[in-house]
Amino acid sequence: MKLVVHDLLRARHIEAFKKITGEQFVISDEESLTHYAHDETEDLHYMPEVVIKPRTTEEISAILKICNAEKIPVTPRGAGTGLSGGALPHLGGVLLSTERMNSILEIDERNLQVITEPGVITEVLQNAVKEKKLFYPPDPSSRGSCFIGGNIAENSGGPKAVKYGVVKDYVLNLEMVLPNGEIIWTGANVLKNATGYNLTQLIVGSEGTLGIVSKIVLKLIPLPKHDLLMLVPFYSAENACAAVGAIFRAGYTPSALEFMERDALDWVSKFVESSTIKIEDNVQAHLLIEVDGNNEEVLVQDMEGIATIAQEFDCGEILFADNAQQKAELWKLRRRVGEAVKSNSIYKEEDTVVPRAELPVLLRGVKEIGKKYGFHSVCYGHAGDGNLHVNIIKGNLTDEQWSGSLKDGIREIFALVKKLGGTISGEHGIGLVQKEYMDIVFNTSQLRLMKEIKKLFDPNNILNAGKIFDV
Ligand code: LAC
Ligand code: ZN
Repeated sequence: MKLVVHDLLRARHIEAFKKITGEQFVISDEESLTHYAHDETEDLHYMPEVVIKPRTTEEISAILKICNAEKIPVTPRGAGTGLSGGALPHLGGVLLSTERMNSILEIDERNLQVITEPGVITEVLQNAVKEKKLFYPPDPSSRGSCFIGGNIAENSGGPKAVKYGVVKDYVLNLEMVLPNGEIIWTGANVLKNATGYNLTQLIVGSEGTLGIVSKIVLKLIPLPKHDLLMLVPFYSAENACAAVGAIFRAGYTPSALEFMERDALDWVSKFVESSTIKIEDNVQAHLLIEVDGNNEEVLVQDMEGIATIAQEFDCGEILFADNAQQKAELWKLRRRVGEAVKSNSIYKEEDTVVPRAELPVLLRGVKEIGKKYGFHSVCYGHAGDGNLHVNIIKGNLTDEQWSGSLKDGIREIFALVKKLGGTISGEHGIGLVQKEYMDIVFNTSQLRLMKEIKKLFDPNNILNAGKIFDV
């Protein structure tokens, strides 16, 4: 179903929205709208017609009732740090920002749970529970600015996912507003639940297409007392990838196992003006490896065991971070690779994921496809999860190549990912920019089921329409 996209909003709608939220939270001046016209995805810009900043679930409900009745497109938005265009208002209409819904409602220390609103910054939530010696592990690189609500929408991951799991593994229950304005809870605040369809998990990762999440109940775990970190250089990037599988097969479970191609570490060191790392000329990649737990001696033994395995894959001199400052510096370098790539060139970010042991084949394939289509790529990511971020650099490609034949190259990468048993997004979602590749990993029956689910929740197709797929 197609929506008429322009001039949908009349003065009467704006007046109605102002009555709901208060005048100052309905914004339509061009300068303010510009801020909401982009997220962190490539170089895409779409202006919303109006930005509304509700404070409560009931306000969201009232807004959605109007939009549903009048068939006005609504794009939900957290902090706008997404990498697949999920928060881009590409149909104009209403952009609904959750930025004012930023309270942590309750840290339940008896049950190790937290109840929060969606507009809380992920790191703020992590720090609040840390004060109670509790741990919410999912830690996307953008955790200092992204919102927990956006993390739910995208089923975000991050480095800790390799040991602790991704967002879906922590979400117990969600309050959400359906596109018609109805308010529901999806489950119960329990660790086990075999009661009917699992609506909670259907909503996690649904990219704001089925409803707007207004309250979130998360599971917490006890905070580990110690962690150790090392940076391991390799003379072959494929060897670095091969070492990853070997580490797990030897019985270790690192709390992070991150891969960075030479360019990734080199570019980010320049970007943040850090001289912490000296990269030898013939080093092609690094693994950043962390272990955590409560017994430091055991962790030291684990690090030694992992280092021995790395040596079997021809690694260089290992840097063991021996104080909190050095650890923080290494993590800063890793977390800011994406920004560094972005500052270097126009780029496209592909979020490939394969079974862990296939990582060396994937990396080799990406480089071969790059040669064939003439593009340079900078690869990095959560190697322990088989999740490789392939950043395709525009570099010398012409505009025609960039928006033309490159698509065939991306298709080849995704076809390889599929052949290796993987899929086309591990943690960044499909949004606007990957939807044209969904047919590589899903057949028409699978896509039909997903589209029917969308129609069931949102028969008028008002909520984040045209994301993930066109209905
Ligand atoms: C990272 C983001 C881009 O891993 O997912 O840094
Ligand atoms: Zn990532």
